[in-house]
Amino acid sequence: MKIALFGFMGSGKSTLGKALAEKNAYVFIDLDEAIETKTGLSISQIFEAKGEIVFRKIEHQVLKDIVKRDYTNLILSLGGGTIIQPTNRKLLEVKNYKKIYLDVQTDVLIERLLKQKNERPLLTKVPEEKLQDYINALFLSRKSIYENASDIRISIEKENFEQSLEKISLYLNLN
Ligand code: S3P
Repeated sequence: MKIALFGFMGSGKSTLGKALAEKNAYVFIDLDEAIETKTGLSISQIFEAKGEIVFRKIEHQVLKDIVKRDYTNLILSLGGGTIIQPTNRKLLEVKNYKKIYLDVQTDVLIERLLKQKNERPLLTKVPEEKLQDYINALFLSRKSIYENASDIRISIEKENFEQSLEKISLYLNLN
């Protein structure tokens, strides 16, 4: 089974995806990490030096390369904006990826993201006092796309890491 995990920044795609893959002997790929390996630059450096439009082009190309490889069992954690691009959704659909939306409450996301502002290129330039509104607005603008793109939507509420892992495993029929 090929699984694409997606959701907003801070929803735990990478940590949960990695743990799930380890538990089930699946290959794990984090798209942001693959982009960094391919370009030799951090995501922040790409945004800084080339801007978001170029980042989206690179993101699409790296996703295309991964999807081409036809893994048997793969968990691919996407970036928060990957699934927003219709061409990226198409790539995943053509190769029968199960698209899993990790739907985390916005207040939880905001709490996490406020602590990680500097590691998030989309947030670094937003003034502190506007950050909460900015995150809310970005989330709202993406919410329906996330929901419509998902084959399975897993709502993560107050669960801790282990409980979230168990919940996702149950939905996916994994260990
Ligand atoms: C982005 C999310 C980031 C990264 C880039 C853009 C987004 O990934 O791809 O900064 O548009 O939401 P994470 O969701 O893994 O932080």
